[in-house]
Amino acid sequence: MRSALLALAALSFTPSISMAQVPAHQAIPANQPIISDWARQQPALAPHAMVATQDATATRIGVDILKRGGNAVDAAVAVGYALAVTLPRAGNVGGGGFMLVHLKSQNKTIAIDYRETAPASATKDMFLDAKGDADPKKSRDSGLAVGVPGTVAGLTLALEKYGSGKFKLAELIGPAIALAENGIIVDEDLADSLPLARNRLAAWPSSAKIFLKPDGAPLVRGDRLVQADLARTLSTIAAKGVKGFYEGPVAEKIVAAVNGAGGNMSLTDLATYKVFEREPVRGTYRGFEIVSMPPPSSGGIHIIQILNMLEGYKLSEMGAQSADTLHVMTEAMKPAYADRSEYLGDPGFVQVPVKQLLSKKYAEARRAEISMEKARPARDVKPGNLAPYESDQTTHYSIIDADGNAVANTYTLNFSYGLGLVAEGTGVLLNNELDDFAAKAGVPNGFGLIGGDANAPGPGKRPLSSMSPTIVMKDGQVYLVTGSPGGSRIITTVLQVISNIIDHGMNVQEAVSAPRIHHQWLPDELRTERGFSIDTIRILESRGHKVVIAPVSGSAQTIMMTPRGPAGAADTRQRGTLASGY
Ligand code: GLY
Repeated sequence: MRSALLALAALSFTPSISMAQVPAHQAIPANQPIISDWARQQPALAPHAMVATQDATATRIGVDILKRGGNAVDAAVAVGYALAVTLPRAGNVGGGGFMLVHLKSQNKTIAIDYRETAPASATKDMFLDAKGDADPKKSRDSGLAVGVPGTVAGLTLALEKYGSGKFKLAELIGPAIALAENGIIVDEDLADSLPLARNRLAAWPSSAKIFLKPDGAPLVRGDRLVQADLARTLSTIAAKGVKGFYEGPVAEKIVAAVNGAGGNMSLTDLATYKVFEREPVRGTYRGFEIVSMPPPSSGGIHIIQILNMLEGYKLSEMGAQSADTLHVMTEAMKPAYADRSEYLGDPGFVQVPVKQLLSKKYAEARRAEISMEKARPARDVKPGNLAPYESDQTTHYSIIDADGNAVANTYTLNFSYGLGLVAEGTGVLLNNELDDFAAKAGVPNGFGLIGGDANAPGPGKRPLSSMSPTIVMKDGQVYLVTGSPGGSRIITTVLQVISNIIDHGMNVQEAVSAPRIHHQWLPDELRTERGFSIDTIRILESRGHKVVIAPVSGSAQTIMMTPRGPAGAADTRQRGTLASGY
């Protein structure tokens, strides 16, 4: 099976995430690494509680809920709805995600799976053209790409089961309604994201009238973005709960929009959407416990798998950012992504060998294949044309409250602004999450990831994800809450934040800001952010790594417990992020 996947991938790899599509002021001088200032950065400190999100307004809303006696879950619900308004490219009600909740009093961590689901009409070959080839237009740009959204159901379940009980849903959605109704002033971050998604927003009049000007140009910094329909939808959810979204006029309009765009979703698909509470995956790394998201995310399994391999190396002696450390990290990433392509999928449909993948013995065997001297080629890969998709479309936030409860939440529309389609009259941007299925065995998805039968589309199935909300425990207490956007790069981003802290003793802001690498087996290239020394890069190249300097990215809003209280790190790779507490 694996060799068949490799052969197919080699024939058909055409990466569609554009690393070049970054705003001009972030343009990368041709192949020039520069040394960044990550090692002198300080986190935000607060005595009691902390919120770290990708948007300052959402962070402040979360902190306000905490100050008023809400717990981490209450704050997470308020933040989740706020981001749907203030960070429309990734925050959402029309997408889905994963939430880890740690309840201190019960010493328990729950994984809430509110991933989008394929409608009952889905078939294995739904994304193929007449010749039987994968058709990215179907899986990325049409109504067929839309999964039944899970966010409203997920946030509602979290609040009902794990909220403090002090806040009603309506109180927590209130700030988001006000922001949508009154409008927000477009800041640099939002202004930068719109031109990259302009064509896909312009394709739908219902979206263009919200995010573009009458002449078709995107809103710019200083403009006011009013989302009146979204305010009405949020008010309906506030009044009626999940029924306000999954039944009635909002559901009807979503179904009409999806089917009008070539999809095949029914009202029953929406009315029967289910949130799953799952057992998190767990591993250990140098005495710390790693608690993360199980399938249908691949994230938790592969973070633990890679850490298991790395445990056999003295990374602290090899040194942070050294060629040796980066080399073994890269070599450990490759088998994890190879396993991902073969074994991972929706556990409701396929048997994922979780235990084996997480076992230290298996990691030992994979580690034995690693040479310190030479990079192992995955195989020759034909470089493809880069398509215009922006890379940071998911968003993650972390929260720790004054009682030591924690939330790590990652949710998404898949691409930036999802399908780009707002369901007329609802203000709800719809996801294109079903592109995370393997449209055809061995054909890469929008993140260059390949897969096989385990992740083939199917009715009621959830596409494999890389989203990795993660909590690290030390002596039974929450130590670190982290996660990131970045598609396939989420796993390696979270991995490096954890290793930077545990192996190299960085403070949480340094750990988040330090330049990152990424290797996903195929394509066979080692992506490095700017910030590594040219000498390090040359050593890696001499060992056979094909180094590509590019924005590896991610936006890992992270919180670490310290003796002085929670320390928060906003990832400065994105503008507008904020870690703040009280
Ligand atoms: N859509 C990206 C992911 O779920 O991994």
